[in-house]
Amino acid sequence: MLTLEEIFPPYALRVSCGPVELRVLRDDDLPELVELVRSGVQAPGSPVPFLRDWHEEPWAPGAPDGFPATSLGWWWQQRSMFAPDQWWLALAVRRDGVLVGMQDLHAEHFAQVRTVETGSWLGLAHQGRGTGTVMRQLAVGLALDELGAVACESGYLEGNRASAAVSHKVGYVDNGRARVVQRVRGHAVGVAEQRVVVTPATYVRPSEPVVVEGADALRRFLSIGIEAR
Ligand SMILES: CC(C)(COP(=O)(O)OP(=O)(O)OC[C@H]1O[C@@H](n2cnc3c(N)ncnc32)[C@H](O)[C@@H]1OP(=O)(O)O)[C@@H](O)C(=O)NCCC(=O)NCCS
Repeated sequence: MLTLEEIFPPYALRVSCGPVELRVLRDDDLPELVELVRSGVQAPGSPVPFLRDWHEEPWAPGAPDGFPATSLGWWWQQRSMFAPDQWWLALAVRRDGVLVGMQDLHAEHFAQVRTVETGSWLGLAHQGRGTGTVMRQLAVGLALDELGAVACESGYLEGNRASAAVSHKVGYVDNGRARVVQRVRGHAVGVAEQRVVVTPATYVRPSEPVVVEGADALRRFLSIGIEAR
């Protein structure tokens, strides 16, 4: 009988550096993840950091229209996107074994474009300890070193000083501004997004050694050619 990792190779991926570890989100992680979101993501008084206020949905376990059901579909949908021309890695971030946040990595037409997009968040209690910087360094290193990306793009909404600081520490440079739609409490508003991009020439690696397991199987599963690395 095959193992779960042989059936779904992204589950075999493990990227770690010091106390921080990234692995693809599993159903077993959901109780911790739900509790993490419930304990708060956004610092009081700071602007909504996401394009939708998914983290502020009413707490309604067992109901179809409140949290966590409102986020379950999204987490499961990410796992189902693994076609070579569109894939998504929803990586659970653990620090000293405790689930502290999520780091996403996704790409469209990767074979041709060799560019990934990242997004991330940490539970409020786990912010400001350097974890946000390390998890983004690990995601970028995975993309550039293991998957053969030539660039990683991201963006932060105007006023998100923590995300701006992390981006610049990891070596991202400004890549233009965009007007985007943000949905908060059911209302759509236009907000400014700063786009950023990091390439091998500007990437700032973590100061501690990085360990990657399962990259070969992941490359095979996503049809990422070894010759392009
Ligand atoms: C953005 C986020 C992932 C950053 O992670 P973090 O672990 O808090 O950040 P770090 O501790 O690695 O801090 C990195 C740098 O940002 C700076 N920083 C952190 N919060 C800051 C703030 N509110 N204002 C200004 N700088 C800030 C830190 O001082 C640090 O720089 P330094 O090392 O030179 O002092 C985290 O704050 C978060 O999840 N926020 C809510 C969700 C979010 O904004 N997600 C990103 C959407 S684009």
